[in-house]
Amino acid sequence: MSAIESLKIGKELMSLINTNDLCLWYDDKQALFDVSFKVIKNKITALIGPSGCGKSTLIRCFNRMNDVIDNVKISGEIQFKGKNILDRHYEVTSLRKRVGMIFQKPNPFPMSIYDNIAYGPRIHGIKKRQELDKIVERCLKLGVIWDEVKDRLKDSALGLSGGQQQRLCIARALSIEPEVILMDEPTSSLDPIATAKIEELLLELKKNYTIVIVTHNMQQAARISDYTGFMYLGKMIEFAKTPQLFENPQEDLTERYITGRFG
Ligand SMILES: Nc1ncnc2c1ncn2[C@@H]1O[C@H](COP(=O)(O)OP(=O)(O)OP(=O)(O)O)[C@@H](O)[C@H]1O
Ligand SMILES: [Mg+2]
Repeated sequence: MSAIESLKIGKELMSLINTNDLCLWYDDKQALFDVSFKVIKNKITALIGPSGCGKSTLIRCFNRMNDVIDNVKISGEIQFKGKNILDRHYEVTSLRKRVGMIFQKPNPFPMSIYDNIAYGPRIHGIKKRQELDKIVERCLKLGVIWDEVKDRLKDSALGLSGGQQQRLCIARALSIEPEVILMDEPTSSLDPIATAKIEELLLELKKNYTIVIVTHNMQQAARISDYTGFMYLGKMIEFAKTPQLFENPQEDLTERYITGRFG
C-alpha cells in the first residue's frame, strides 16, 4: 500500500496541495522519487528524515523555488487547489503570493522593521500610509512581536535578535496574505525560548493558514504537527497522522529512524 493510500483522511478534511508521483532531478541525479502525499488545509504538516533525503527539495517545489536552480527537471504533478502548479502556463507570481516561505536563517531585508512588513503590500499596490500602518500592526501582532518592536518601527530590522528576526520574517510572510506557509527548519538557529515562541505562534497561525514545516527536531514535529511525512533517499517512506507515525509506525525504516536506530 502506498503512503497516500494508507492515510485515512476523513472527507471533511480538505487537501490544499496534492503531489502525485513527483520526481525531481538535479542534472542526472534523482533527488525525489514518486512522492505522493497531501497537505491538509489549516493543519501543520511536518517533513522529517535524515540529511540529504530531499525535504528542502520537496518543500521548494510547492512555490516553485526550484525554478531558480539550473538543470532541475521535474515530473509528476503538484495540485494546488486543484490546479497543477507545474503546468508551464501556471502563474508563478500569484503562486508565490499564495504560498509564502520562511527559511532556516532569518533573512530580514536590510531596512526598517516597518518597511520589512510594508514591502510586499507596497509592491502589490498599497500606497496609503494609513492602510500600510494597519497592515504593519496587524502582521506584527500576528507574528507576536508587536509589543517588542512597536516603539522602534523605524529602527533597522538587522538590530533584532535572531528569534525576533524570525518572527519578523513570519510577520512579513503574512503581510501578503498567503494561504500556505512553507518553513524549512525555521527554528534550527534559535535557542529553546525563541523556539517555543515560534512553536506557539505556529499553533495559533494554523487556525487561518496551512503550514508545511521541515524539521530535524522530532520532538518538535511530534509537538506541533498534525501530519508527518518521513522521507528517506528521496522517497516518502511513510505519511500519517503525527501520533500514529510516532507511536505506531507502519514501516520498519520509520521506526528505526524515530527510535534513533538508524544508519
Ligand atoms: N541545488 C542543488 N544541486 C544539486 N544537487 C542538489 C541541490 N540541492 C540539493 N541537492 C541534492 O539533492 C538531495 C536532497 O537534498 P535536500 O537539500 O533536499 O535534502 P534535505 O533533506 O533538505 O537535507 P538537510 O536535512 O541536510 O537540509 C541531496 O543529495 C543534495 O545533495
Ligand atoms: Mg534541507
